[in-house]
Amino acid sequence: MKGIILAGGSGTRLYPSTLATSKQLLAVYDKPMVYHPLSVLMLAGIREILVISTPESVPPLRSLLGDGSHLGLEISYAEQESPRGIAEALVIGADHIGDGPVALILGDNVFHGAGFPQLLRTARAELDGCTLFGYPVSDPERYGIGEVDAEGNLVSLEEKPDRPRSDNAITGLYFYDADAVEIARGLTPSDRGELEITDVNRVYLEQGRARLIRLGRGYTWLDAGTHDSLLAASQYVHVIEKRQGVRVACVEEIALRMGYIAPEHCHQLGARMKNSEYGQYLMQVARLVA
Ligand code: G1P
Repeated sequence: MKGIILAGGSGTRLYPSTLATSKQLLAVYDKPMVYHPLSVLMLAGIREILVISTPESVPPLRSLLGDGSHLGLEISYAEQESPRGIAEALVIGADHIGDGPVALILGDNVFHGAGFPQLLRTARAELDGCTLFGYPVSDPERYGIGEVDAEGNLVSLEEKPDRPRSDNAITGLYFYDADAVEIARGLTPSDRGELEITDVNRVYLEQGRARLIRLGRGYTWLDAGTHDSLLAASQYVHVIEKRQGVRVACVEEIALRMGYIAPEHCHQLGARMKNSEYGQYLMQVARLVA
């Protein structure tokens, strides 16, 4: 399975913080936001990842993540010239995806919870059509909303409804089989001029091949696309990390624990930033695992 991080958009809801930089490079407490979606793909066992962003933001993202080899990954880049919708990522990423399945994740989505790696791997193994991940929220009108039957099959789908039929928000993580590219290519832009990911999901729904896994109380899902939600995400990560002494979305540690990089290499990555607590943590984790 290939991975795509859509780190596009102009981040207008975060102006002026994003006037001169990409939203996904802003810090969620102690690390760039894009580490969060990257860590999700890594935990799902995905190693070939395409990062899609605006022409201005590809160079700094490339400076940060490089070709991914320092993490045992293959990271490549593509441009989305204007914000033409989430589903356009599937069209832009067609060559990268090839004729296999793909996991698409939005660059501002933060997931956390015990058991998440196992849940991701099971979802990946059982994929038939599309698998979405739902999360109960108090403001469902802000999101794509899905209703499911007792077996977890999606039965209805609405994008930012005025009167939501459930509180089950569809998070920005989507697993698709090999049909997704053709489905996205066949879409027509919505009234707001975008290729809507909800329209891709609706095709699978109509084929009876859309599942939704509800992330329950044991999970946290945040989007960090506004000043308030970015602060909330930072505070969340801060509290967990200070209390538990572990780091959330620490991509070097994940690479180490997945066996993609050796402890000495992880130690070197930490030593390069040893003036930061993050760097010291990497050196400590490397010593523990060695
Ligand atoms: C997008 C999707 C929406 C989804 C949300 C998750 O909304 O259109 O279905 O629930 O991401 O973050 P946007 O953030 O573009 O408003």
